[in-house]
Amino acid sequence: MTPIAAGQKANDLDAYWMPFTANRQFKENPRMIVGAEGMYFKTSDGRDLLDGIAGLWCCNAGHNRPRIVKAIQKQASELDYAPAFQMGHPKQFELASRLAALMPGDLNRIFFTNSGSEAVETALKMAIAYHRLRGEGHRTRLIGREKGYHGVNFGGMSVGGMPANRKMFGSLVAGVDHLRHTHGIEENRYSQGIPSHGDRLADDLERLCELHDGSTIAAVIVEPLAGSAGVILPPEGYLQRLRKICDKHGILLIFDEVITGFGRLGTPFAVDKFGVEPDMVTAAKALTNGVIPMGAVFVQDKIHDAFMQGPANMVEFFHGYTYSGNPMACAAALGTLDTYEEEGLLTRAAELSDYWQQAVHSLKGLPHVIDLRNLGLIAGIELEPFAGAPTKRAFEVFLKAYEAGLLIRTTGDTIALSPPLIIEKSQIDFAFETLATIIKNLE
Ligand SMILES: Cc1ncc(COP(=O)(O)O)c(C=O)c1O
Repeated sequence: MTPIAAGQKANDLDAYWMPFTANRQFKENPRMIVGAEGMYFKTSDGRDLLDGIAGLWCCNAGHNRPRIVKAIQKQASELDYAPAFQMGHPKQFELASRLAALMPGDLNRIFFTNSGSEAVETALKMAIAYHRLRGEGHRTRLIGREKGYHGVNFGGMSVGGMPANRKMFGSLVAGVDHLRHTHGIEENRYSQGIPSHGDRLADDLERLCELHDGSTIAAVIVEPLAGSAGVILPPEGYLQRLRKICDKHGILLIFDEVITGFGRLGTPFAVDKFGVEPDMVTAAKALTNGVIPMGAVFVQDKIHDAFMQGPANMVEFFHGYTYSGNPMACAAALGTLDTYEEEGLLTRAAELSDYWQQAVHSLKGLPHVIDLRNLGLIAGIELEPFAGAPTKRAFEVFLKAYEAGLLIRTTGDTIALSPPLIIEKSQIDFAFETLATIIKNLE
């Protein structure tokens, strides 16, 4: 690396290789955030930016929340780090108990990771090992879904179904197959809330069970509602059907709730919203309000118990991270859960969802808008792509919204909105009025 020369600024933009970012374009015209409070970011040019996406689907309680800030400060002065293996600290156990109490059914065992990607890797490994421990070592196949996003590590990328995230990285993990996605069903266009058509797409799992034989499949992983590929909702009855087919063939069902967890759909988890209990749930993001990296896998008792055999002095699961259950992350998560509970945030999206739905569908009929989708406090606004230049139109809206004081996210030509759950109606109005004006004036 060349040393910083005299006269050269230490904060040059060159050294930092930004993730999932058009680096060269960004560095030509950087968009810098220097502060945050409540529903707003502060930009380096002194403007307030309404946070329309809860950071990256993670700051469900909004920004710089006092309980979380205090919890972190106190923790840093008491216990900065504790070894994650063969040692414990009280907050890991407290947090796991509180999370288990929040989740319905038998999903009572919690394994901590540092991100959604790691939670997914952990769940996939647990699934394969669980079957082996039960004498079904032939169940090694993993099934994901087209357009799914399960993070960027090898397992998650392999079960994921976003072509751009996969194509550069070789042959990926072997023994993976994919269900068809549920996007683009003509009759579902402009559905308000859960769409009515397409539950039969779950039967695609039967096709894969015929092809591979159901007895070779360890687990199916899906997002109950897919966010990253552009807000794709499960058709009514789809998840229930998937559960039934998994049960029929002895396959574990994993819900990836990295974005749907912690109140996004108006219930604590999508598990509550859809009334379907999977065998494992992965979570991250809003677990700590995005403040400190942390992920978790919620595991059914039966899976956990299958590991608890053999000599008691032996490690049962050869897996874990240096920062699993890190004290600072646990403190942040506990402060976050306190904030959610005190302010009723885990169900606030349900109170606002009618208002939100109306606001989303007020965009119907605007030029270039070809579909609108919503559930809880999530919206997908799908635009007709420019001929020969996919993603360009939506990215133009992103840049114009940024200039107008609104932060949105785009994937492909879909705009995704998922604001902090503390949003006020007047701020919903601002977001959709701003977007309507921008969309009306697009080329
Ligand atoms: C459903 C889902 N799973 C996994 C991940 C990966 O999480 P992380 O970026 O924390 O690794 C994401 C991130 O957006 C996600 O939406």
